[in-house]
Amino acid sequence: MNITEAEFLASNTTYEKCPKPNLPEYAFIGRSNVGKSSLINMLTNRKSLAKTSSTPGKTQLINHFIINEKWYLVDLPGYGFAKASKDNKAAWDKMIRDYLEKRMNLMTVFILIDIRHEPQKVDVKFINWMGEKEISFVIVFTKSDKIGKQLVASSVAAYKKELLQTWDQLPTFFITSAEKNIGRDEILDYIEKVNKEFKK
Ligand code: GTP
Ligand code: MG
Repeated sequence: MNITEAEFLASNTTYEKCPKPNLPEYAFIGRSNVGKSSLINMLTNRKSLAKTSSTPGKTQLINHFIINEKWYLVDLPGYGFAKASKDNKAAWDKMIRDYLEKRMNLMTVFILIDIRHEPQKVDVKFINWMGEKEISFVIVFTKSDKIGKQLVASSVAAYKKELLQTWDQLPTFFITSAEKNIGRDEILDYIEKVNKEFKK
């Protein structure tokens, strides 16, 4: 898929206020600082469509972008932000869970995982919750440029092993680097394919 147009549409605090659900939608989620905004910029080939930052917690709203006038891309706030207060965490939880459970046009959630770390509780918990709610998702490993090929393979294997403790079937995995432009075609091909399944 060629991306000819990518435009920021709106930021919202609740799914009800989001743009009309008349196009297929893909949301990007993961721990704070995992590289969501960077991945979105890589996919859309724009330097600063989504705001990136070395300070965690930059993205705090449900951010909609429209791509090629055909599908929505959504940048969600990161979870597991250590500095957030309890109240903030509860508000995040409600906003995101409502959005994930109720957004009608949501086709796939891209769950981002930093490939450098072994499976983290907060990620596994979130993946398991998604599975229980039967919300369609794939896993995207980020920052693969930061480690060698062998470590990439062993990180992926460790995740598969972890998930197979709970689930019979494994989700689709993508390995990416926003720095080195890795995984872009694979993810865009996937979206193109799933777009065809969208029914208004
Ligand atoms: P929040 O919105 O704060 O939750 O963060 P985010 O998940 O959107 O992360 P963001 O894209 O802002 O990236 C966080 C930091 O990681 C930035 O300093 C990025 O430059 C860096 N980063 C993101 N992706 C990659 C990557 O593929 N490779 C490398 N080397 N660095 C990356
Ligand atoms: Mg961000």
